[in-house]
Amino acid sequence: MYPRTHHCNALTLDHVGQRVDLSGWVNSCRNLGGLVFIDLRDREGVTQLVIDPATQPELASRAGAIREEWVIAATGTVRARPDAMVNRQRPTGAIEIAVEGLEILNRAAPMPFNLEDPSVSEDLRLKYRYLDMRRSGLVSNLRLRHKITKVVRDVLDQRGFVEVETPILSKSTPEGARDYLVPSRVHPGCFYALPQAPQQYKQILMVGGLERYFQIARCFRDEDLRADRQPEFTQIDLEMSFVTREDIIATIEAMLATVMQEVLGRTLETPLPRLTYREAMDRFGSDKPDTRFAMELVDLTAALRQTEFRVFRGVIDQGGVIKAINARGLAGTNRRQIDTWTETAQVFGAKGLAWLKVGPQGEVTGSVAKFLTDSERAAVLAATGAAEGDLVLIVADRHRVACEALGRLRLDVAKTAGIIPENAFNFLWVVDFPLLDFDEQEKRYVAVHHPFTSPRDEDFDKLDTDPGAVRAKAYDVVLNGVELGGGSIRIHTPEMQQRMFSALGIAPDEAKARFGHILEALGFGAPPHGGIALGLDRFAMLMVGAPSIRDVIAFPKTAKATCLMTESPSTVDDRQLEELHIRTAPVEPAGTPEASTAGA
Ligand code: AMO
Ligand code: AMP
Repeated sequence: MYPRTHHCNALTLDHVGQRVDLSGWVNSCRNLGGLVFIDLRDREGVTQLVIDPATQPELASRAGAIREEWVIAATGTVRARPDAMVNRQRPTGAIEIAVEGLEILNRAAPMPFNLEDPSVSEDLRLKYRYLDMRRSGLVSNLRLRHKITKVVRDVLDQRGFVEVETPILSKSTPEGARDYLVPSRVHPGCFYALPQAPQQYKQILMVGGLERYFQIARCFRDEDLRADRQPEFTQIDLEMSFVTREDIIATIEAMLATVMQEVLGRTLETPLPRLTYREAMDRFGSDKPDTRFAMELVDLTAALRQTEFRVFRGVIDQGGVIKAINARGLAGTNRRQIDTWTETAQVFGAKGLAWLKVGPQGEVTGSVAKFLTDSERAAVLAATGAAEGDLVLIVADRHRVACEALGRLRLDVAKTAGIIPENAFNFLWVVDFPLLDFDEQEKRYVAVHHPFTSPRDEDFDKLDTDPGAVRAKAYDVVLNGVELGGGSIRIHTPEMQQRMFSALGIAPDEAKARFGHILEALGFGAPPHGGIALGLDRFAMLMVGAPSIRDVIAFPKTAKATCLMTESPSTVDDRQLEELHIRTAPVEPAGTPEASTAGA
């Protein structure tokens, strides 16, 4: 009876007459017309067991006591189901097992929730992650994730990459989030940082002569969580020496194409499309454009250059732009919806949202219709291609605000209109990112990617005169509007790295204290090098079509960065704190997972 001869997906009419042993969990147990039917489930599928009390009275009475999710093993003979009982939805639906022996391997307490009810709260499902896993499809997601990493390892191995584990107890790497810190017992008052990415280690491996590194790397970032962000997540991280951007892009394209082929059986056309950052912002209002649908942003500034409408006039006079999208067929949109979109635009800093509708006779109405002349209205329709039944949404503002607000509305409108094709995989590269971005709050430039990214050679001179205009040797790979990965060609001389630190307002002593190791390493003959990291969780999420990366992580954290199953983070003994030379400030309310994080 045990070990089993088959999995619960394996048996078909070809096996009729064979004696088999199966083990698994009880999916359901029913008593029908005197017969006991058990649906037995294992990792691979479900098979129906049947016990006839007429021939197996003792077995039938034992089986009658079995409940859902008990663990059992059964021996029996495969037989064809009567025609009327065939279940065509299931691979094993043509057969059943006439049970001859049954063993209860373990009982189960009543389930805390209905495992098949999708409306059960996510918190409850996270608390009982191991139960949710049994039926929710999570196991198949984890298996797909495994397949991705297996293919990635094979592809990179074939191309001469060496998998290296870099430290988890490490030093702060600035990737734009807060660090998770680990106090040192041996060095009072000192802390390790968990890596936000293995960035500096992988660059130092290049200095060491490894030439091609990769790692399926766990990263830790204390940042606000969203559907595509977790405090700990996994990168497919790689670095190469003596290469240009093109070599890295070609490596990643080959890897993505092999994964798509081997995991989903889909052909990925390469080379992938490329957009510059500027083009992506202009046309899609985003540095991670979703190109599964069109609805591109249109620039109306030229068409409305002479307008006397106060709002547009003011924006044009101040060097701003007027941009629009054509929400095709949405002229019937109600005011409440438009008000919601207006609020969305305002979140991005837009002062308002103007709209025009084209009616059945071609008449144009809407919030700014009466402020525009006939020829201006006609020019707007011509530029946006708007016709009867369409709705044009317009934002006038600084270039960035107008693009970002409409970029977001483009996504919201596409969702409302239901025009985003499912099952499409639109990969693309965004290249030529700006190197630096001015942080209004801190009143200084910050690195758009990270401080180790090289400026483009032709923009090098602007580093002192016009830092905001310097473009970086940085590139992102985007899938269906999600930033899948990002990387760059790195700075490989200490002089250039110092210049970059000073452009970021990092004084030489601070640079030495925080990054002395990498500055020193670059000074000992660092080869030209570059790399990239892809978010494995996001890749797996998009490949299975899940709405959140929680669906492809075995034990994810909640939006408040807690694990409901283990109840972490949690408070620790005073003695442990003492050993670590740590005293916590009292927090209210004490003892809850959220509150206890404030301590260390
Ligand atoms: P970056 O910070 O762009 O680059 O990260 C690379 C990719 O990691 C994924 N990612 C995340 N996934 C889940 N949860 C998160 N909190 C999270 N943060 C990032 C994204 C992202 O594109 N060291 C550089 C790479 C390099 O330059 O080689 C880096 O980490 O998919
Ligand atoms: P007002 O006269 O200020 O009420 O503006 C008239 C119309 O212009 C309203 O529909 C506003 O939402 C819209 N509007 C105001 N500011 C902007 C802007 N920056 N971009 C687009 N439309 C705007």
